[in-house]
Amino acid sequence: MSLDYQCPLCQQSLTLQVNVLKCSNNHSFDRAKEGYVNLLPVQQKNSKQPGDNLDMVQARRAFLTTGHYQFLQTAIAERVATHSPQCVIDLGCGEGFYTQAIANACDAKVYGVDISKSAIKYAAKRYDNCNFSVASISQAPFNDEMADVLVSIFAPLFDAELARLAKPDSKLIVASPGPWHLKELKQYIYRDVNAHTAINVPSGFELIEQTLLEQQISVPFNDVKNLITMTPFAWKFRPEHWQLLEQQGEQVVTLSFYVSQFTRLTDSL
Ligand SMILES: C[S@@+](CC[C@H](N)C(=O)[O-])C[C@H]1O[C@@H](n2cnc3c(N)ncnc32)[C@H](O)[C@@H]1O
Ligand SMILES: [Zn+2]
Repeated sequence: MSLDYQCPLCQQSLTLQVNVLKCSNNHSFDRAKEGYVNLLPVQQKNSKQPGDNLDMVQARRAFLTTGHYQFLQTAIAERVATHSPQCVIDLGCGEGFYTQAIANACDAKVYGVDISKSAIKYAAKRYDNCNFSVASISQAPFNDEMADVLVSIFAPLFDAELARLAKPDSKLIVASPGPWHLKELKQYIYRDVNAHTAINVPSGFELIEQTLLEQQISVPFNDVKNLITMTPFAWKFRPEHWQLLEQQGEQVVTLSFYVSQFTRLTDSL
């Protein structure tokens, strides 16, 4: 099997030798028993446990298995498949919920990369139709112009890296929160809930399509708890907010997502 990774220390290509990836400068990276590779050198770690922690990963997994985000998963996988890509990279892939659906929908070699080891371990254990790595997407361990489609779902965007990884005319598909995403939950902690706006066009790309996908769901406390725990505003919920939510029982929640498609501009290369 060939894996097209780049050494995070010297940017030379890595070759797989049994279960070790090595570059010509003899930097080597083991493949874990779960099948993923750890390409995050200590000097790129900004904390002991960068990215989403195990609690967030487990909460996200538990919530995603309820099926409430399946309409987004399908929309993303279908959009990627229309481009008949050979290589797709899901940047900030978490535990691979969207990555594996993309791999099922098209014939491409699909890479999922995330800085959270807990998330990647989980992804690699479950899905063997993708190639997972622990790495930073601010210095992604892939060669220039490698991807036909880049995917980013609720993950940070690093414009220069996106432009570097994208083939000419390739596509970038981004899911980001729509105007009133989770507004009923935010009302517990914010006096005024501000509407999310669509993301800015990353430099070197042009917007070709933007869709707003929305659904209202009614979910029991346990699902609400997981939905909040998997978001960055979970730490704002104090015991009294949790208590109110629990008393409420079933909770109506607005799910709202922008799905934006961009194309790599060739004249800015
Ligand atoms: C909100 S989660 C979304 C995960 C996944 N795309 C999903 O929607 O299920 C954001 C993800 O970005 C990852 N992340 C944040 N900063 C990163 C970085 N610099 N490099 C790689 N991954 C990063 C986090 O670890 C987390 O898994
Ligand atoms: Zn190297």
